[in-house]
Amino acid sequence: MCGIVGYIGSREASAVVVGGLKKLEYRGYDSAGMAVLAQNGHIELRRDVGKLSNLQATLATSPLAGHIGIGHTRWATHGAPSERNAHPHVSMNGRVVVVHNGIVENFATLRDELEAEGVVFESDTDTEVIVQMIERYLEAGEALETAVRHTLQQLKGANAVVVMSQDRPDTLLCARLGNAGGITLGLGQDEMFIASDIPAILEYTRQMIFLENRQIARLTRHSYEITDLDGRSVLPEIHQISWDPVSAAKGEYKHFMQKEIHEQPQSLIDTVRGRVDFENGRVHLPEMNLTPELAQRVQKLIIIACGTSYYSGLAGKFMFESIARLPTEVAYASEFRYYDPIVDAGTAVLAITQSGETADTLAACELAKQKGATLWSIVNAVGSQATRISHGYIPMQAGPEIGVASTKAFTTSLVDQYMLACALGELRGTLSPQRLRQLVDDLAQLPYLAGQVLEHDEEYEALAGLFFKAKNFLYLGRGINYAVAREGALKLKEISYIHAEGYPAGEMKHGPIALIDETMPVVCLATQDGLYDKMISQIQQAKARDGIVLAVATEGDEAIRVEADHVLYVPATPPLLSPVVNTIPLQLFAYYVAVRLGADVDQPRNLAKSVTVE
Ligand code: G6P
Repeated sequence: MCGIVGYIGSREASAVVVGGLKKLEYRGYDSAGMAVLAQNGHIELRRDVGKLSNLQATLATSPLAGHIGIGHTRWATHGAPSERNAHPHVSMNGRVVVVHNGIVENFATLRDELEAEGVVFESDTDTEVIVQMIERYLEAGEALETAVRHTLQQLKGANAVVVMSQDRPDTLLCARLGNAGGITLGLGQDEMFIASDIPAILEYTRQMIFLENRQIARLTRHSYEITDLDGRSVLPEIHQISWDPVSAAKGEYKHFMQKEIHEQPQSLIDTVRGRVDFENGRVHLPEMNLTPELAQRVQKLIIIACGTSYYSGLAGKFMFESIARLPTEVAYASEFRYYDPIVDAGTAVLAITQSGETADTLAACELAKQKGATLWSIVNAVGSQATRISHGYIPMQAGPEIGVASTKAFTTSLVDQYMLACALGELRGTLSPQRLRQLVDDLAQLPYLAGQVLEHDEEYEALAGLFFKAKNFLYLGRGINYAVAREGALKLKEISYIHAEGYPAGEMKHGPIALIDETMPVVCLATQDGLYDKMISQIQQAKARDGIVLAVATEGDEAIRVEADHVLYVPATPPLLSPVVNTIPLQLFAYYVAVRLGADVDQPRNLAKSVTVE
């Protein structure tokens, strides 16, 4: 939520900052802006409402020259999306400029105090108090670092900031307070980078440091120094990032989402590589720190997540209960804190989060730990907060996911849960060696099966051409494929703005059936598993009310052609892994519907990829 970039070195800062923001635009696109320290020693600023392209157009006619700069792409919280509320924000006397991600919860009090002292505010944002406070301290004679530290000590809430000042033209400062999204430092040769997320600076360096809560970094082009909020020195861990810059670029694809859908066979291969020992039929998850004692102590699992990750958890429940015989609940992270969950030392809480930054998920994680649970996580973003606070985690191997609508992170997180269930099942003694071997063997074909679905890409494009004008969709699934129905409906509504509901098929007759008529497409997950016959009877009920049925069915199932209006064939897949394969047609369908509607697939309105506010 909001993207931040900073640069200090010998390149033109505007090129680095705008290039970086382009890669972070998925984090917000209400406005964009940047500031540089110009040759004359003054701060110069350009800001525009709307997408980054507007700022780029402004910079084309009115460029910013300088070798130190900061930029921001905004997802509005306080203050409407407008030029005056766009970041960066400059202090009253023009000495300091700030970009910010998060919410200053006590901003109203701080603002009143500053106004009483004569400070005139230019925007409606909470951010502006930060920059005005820093300037007040500078005017009182404090050094920049001290002024920033004093300011940050007074802020309530989760906040990430980057500060530039004409008082110190050789320095950039940045800080992280709480879970407001990451601050990543990129270490270059005589140049330094700051970004909210790795892809923004990946083309310049692979050496990165992730700021921890309540740390401040001071960067010059040749050096970095990290301290805590009290000024005590901190020795950071330097991470060598293995992500390939090319995989963070769109390449030959029209949209990131399309590219990421097509990357799924590869990300599935990466997910099992090194973790599944096909020869001996075992799963190794080193970062989980599992022991037989721990696996047996856990009596209950609670999966917490938001959005697509929550739907992944809905499917995961079936895996943990079937494979590891572990009673499993799935909770929206945003609700978990408010229903007084029963959590104790025998509970493991598993957070699923692509970004590792979602504020609700992190807050739920903290609560789980306070209550004595063992905290596990499945996370895609390297070095993110979720992995740092967990007792054990699985690094997803999806690679960078840029499209706001999540695709490959969903399917890889399904496989991560499956592998975790296998590892737990083995340690808990709930699996015979034969069953474990079978479960492991079933993984071997999965990337290939996913690839087979993708070969039918053009069929989905054609189907989207028939349905893009529909106003409502119903998605039905049973058992583990209920999760797929929810995810399929979410994909459609997120990127095409068509109303879509995912429902347990058996519940259709208790409500949604009233909506079905000849204008209502009903997407039915009807692959051949133990619930196939039940799904056929749901299809018949929908048809009896003139619904138009699109069925996802197993290749070779000719009988279903008689029941459904359109059949989307997928290869036969073992039931617990079927959500991986069955989701792909729904991703492609949603993608092509959105493309037909001319929607902004990668940056749908009002959404952001990492939601770092509650
Ligand atoms: C946002 C994104 C979704 C994502 C959800 C959870 O709503 O738009 O695509 O599923 O956040 O994100 P996380 O990073 O925690 O998986």
